[in-house]
Amino acid sequence: MRHHSTFRQLEIFEAIARLGSFTRAAEELYLTQPTISMQMKKLADIVGVPLIEQIGKKVHLTDAGRELAQTCREVFAAMDRFTMSVAERQGLKKGRLALMAVSTASYFAPRLLGEFAHRYPGIEVSLKVTNREQLLAGLADNLADLYILGQPPEDVEVEAKPFMCNPLVILAAPDHPLAGQEDIPLARLAKEPWLMRESGSGTRAAVERLFAEEGIELRPRMALGSNEAIKQAILADLGIAVMSTHSLTLNPPGQFAILKARGFPICRQWYAVYPAGRQLSAVARTFLDYLLSQDRALNACPNA
Ligand code: PGA
Repeated sequence: MRHHSTFRQLEIFEAIARLGSFTRAAEELYLTQPTISMQMKKLADIVGVPLIEQIGKKVHLTDAGRELAQTCREVFAAMDRFTMSVAERQGLKKGRLALMAVSTASYFAPRLLGEFAHRYPGIEVSLKVTNREQLLAGLADNLADLYILGQPPEDVEVEAKPFMCNPLVILAAPDHPLAGQEDIPLARLAKEPWLMRESGSGTRAAVERLFAEEGIELRPRMALGSNEAIKQAILADLGIAVMSTHSLTLNPPGQFAILKARGFPICRQWYAVYPAGRQLSAVARTFLDYLLSQDRALNACPNA
């Protein structure tokens, strides 16, 4: 049978088994009854045992028939999976992927995107980098397929997939008097001149939350609009700041001191987020799977 029965015969047989009628199977498959009967006779000859018993108008399956019906379902399900995966790969040949990421994610997102774009050269990729507040506005306006940020929004229903850890540390100039000290109390740190990100920044919100939870007031000396500006200000001895270790990717080790304070590092995660209930495009779904598969390679928490 393996060598002789055709896919068409199995399709006809499956339709008869499912619909319990030659007539209805003929209708469904746009075939004539004599064709169907002939094909089923051939199939039974190939198998070597009867598959169908017809009593009056009723169609009954023999034991072998039932087994073959189950086999047909398995074969067709496997074929469906195959067809879908081909279609998906075709879909991935072309397409667009729009991402929005918070500014701190710009230290790693382009690299991840680069690898993805390399793998799928036909996909047009765009990445918009903003701070957290603007990203949340973008989410509300549906501007992108996926959003990368350090904390899922609390007031919007989203799917949030953590894919990498994001330790926040306190950076100071390498010769800062607190550098090298252990277990510095937050109250002591609060006396330092603080450099903060602009309001609307996720990093800033995380720092403010930590100090507020401890009931300690933090009076920023200066607000700066980017991680890079803050790093320059630290090196100019203007103060200390909390920052993601990812922002140090391109800095030589030892350029900054990392102060060892209670409650630090703040262990955050990077999340890929999209509106709850949204059906992701094949491209977005593939990028998300790719991000989640990065977990192990990138999940090591430097300095944490
Ligand atoms: P930010 O966001 O770049 O706006 O500070 C970072 C974060 O959400 O962790």
